Amino acid sequence: MTSKQLNESVEYLIEKGFDKPEIGVVLGTGLGKLAEDIESPIEAFYNHIPYFPLATVEFHAGKLIYGILEDKKVVVMQGRFHLYEGYDLVDVTYPIRVMQRLGIKKLFISNAAGAINLNYKKGEIMLLEDHINLQGGSPLAFKNVGEFGNRFTDMSEPYDPEMRQKLIKIAEQEKITLRQGVYVSVLGPQLETKAEYRMLKMMGADAVGMSTVPEVIVANHLKLPVVAVSVLTDECDPEKLQPVNIAEIIEIAANTEPKMIKLFRELIKEI
Ligand code: HPA
Repeated sequence: MTSKQLNESVEYLIEKGFDKPEIGVVLGTGLGKLAEDIESPIEAFYNHIPYFPLATVEFHAGKLIYGILEDKKVVVMQGRFHLYEGYDLVDVTYPIRVMQRLGIKKLFISNAAGAINLNYKKGEIMLLEDHINLQGGSPLAFKNVGEFGNRFTDMSEPYDPEMRQKLIKIAEQEKITLRQGVYVSVLGPQLETKAEYRMLKMMGADAVGMSTVPEVIVANHLKLPVVAVSVLTDECDPEKLQPVNIAEIIEIAANTEPKMIKLFRELIKEI
């Protein structure tokens, strides 16, 4: 990755009309509907943006959408790149760097995750307080990382406390149960074994998923304030583990999505 490449990606988007967005949003698996609410949308398919990771066939629908939401200029990623699709961590986080160069000042991230904390139920939302990186790599482990920020990026407070407080308040006002906890990212794409769920719980994780952490590390590298929420789609009880039902996971994500959209829209309003 070079600055020249990033600049070419940004130039392409500016020419399409992406005009200084203030807020970037990453929409997780099964959570793409917020994009439909954007006014005066301009779309850029990932496949058409210079130097964006080359998408797999399955992933042709991934796009960046620019427009207005709650009177703010936003850029939304509908679909993200996952490590388990065969990209490397620099590729996975390339769009975050592009959005930052477009001008975003805040980043909101969503994902679908399994509940490790068994007090948390599927269909609930969890605000990330902290995370554990179990993906076996870092998006900052490349030679010229120093050109883009501090190699030894501080991670003592990875999720912006001010925006977290705002989300907690919004959830209270909207009567949405908002759990808080630690998200652990795994590589996937296979789901976890019972023994792995036990291990993740012992580590202190409340939810597990296959994304978000690389993007949050890069946001911190760029000193870009970030918040993230997990839509809890399944309960990872090692003592009663059922075979995974992906259709159910997607259905629960879709049913829970309106609450997530409400939280994000209200936060955009307040910022
Ligand atoms: N494990 C990992 N990723 C997930 C899960 C899970 O149980 N549920 C949704 N994404």
